[in-house]
Amino acid sequence: MTIIATWEMSYDGVKAAREVIRKGASCEDALEALINYIELNEDFHNVGHSGWPNEDGVVELDAAMINGDNLEYGAVAGLRNIKTPISVARLLVGSEYNNFLVGEGAYRFAMEHGFKHENLLTKPARDRWLERVMKEDYGVKGHDTVGTVISMNGRVVAATSTSGLFMKKMGRVGDSPLVGPGLYADSDVGGATATGVGEDIIKGTLSFKIVELMRLGVDVKEACHKAVKGLHDTMIKKGETPREFSVVALDKDGNWGAASNRDEFPFVILEDDEVKFMISKDWGRSFEERVSAFEK
Ligand code: GLY
Repeated sequence: MTIIATWEMSYDGVKAAREVIRKGASCEDALEALINYIELNEDFHNVGHSGWPNEDGVVELDAAMINGDNLEYGAVAGLRNIKTPISVARLLVGSEYNNFLVGEGAYRFAMEHGFKHENLLTKPARDRWLERVMKEDYGVKGHDTVGTVISMNGRVVAATSTSGLFMKKMGRVGDSPLVGPGLYADSDVGGATATGVGEDIIKGTLSFKIVELMRLGVDVKEACHKAVKGLHDTMIKKGETPREFSVVALDKDGNWGAASNRDEFPFVILEDDEVKFMISKDWGRSFEERVSAFEK
């Protein structure tokens, strides 16, 4: 069994996933536990409760999950007032229709399924938003989505959750809830997920690209490298300036890869029952294990 997840914020979430797996959890239970841990942690401002708001000061959340056994997925976007959007997205996995709900429709679905209406804008997030509004600074910057993939007992499942870009336009949706760019899984091949600026990740359909490269026989690390470097180079060739994007992936046997167009990209893996904090460098060509700040 292997789990891979984006950014150092996933460290304790991966430990939470390990705990539920020890008690017999499914792939879906494990990823939901991992992501719920981050969504509910007020110190993390890129995901769930206490996420950074849009330019109107409203927190709008995106999340998705895909089951690699049958490609069934569930997704929500622009979801307000619900702390754990991944749990709502998970409920939509396997629906015959209506797998992807946005805004009011996603909220209504959540309320009908027992979720609680809550205020998601915490004081630190509101203060940072107010500071930007006072300066009339409405620029958007990069973003840290939690994206995660598990390979266990012949199954591969991927999931994401994010509050999207800080100061985004109301209704803006990035790559994270989109099957293809933001996440993909096929239990016969492997799974992948992306983080960074969704506007660029969508241009390269990054997660699907990695899985399709693996389907052709490309090694998981090389597939991550090729997808990220390929999109970056293509954008430059077309006169565009790529912003930051990064990926993590697993093949069906639990081998992992991670690549980024940043100098260093932090991610977390669980393998052989051990949680490791890793850095991907050199476009996914080299890796370094470090001690996480969350290690007590
Ligand atoms: N990757 C997250 C977003 O662009 O919203």
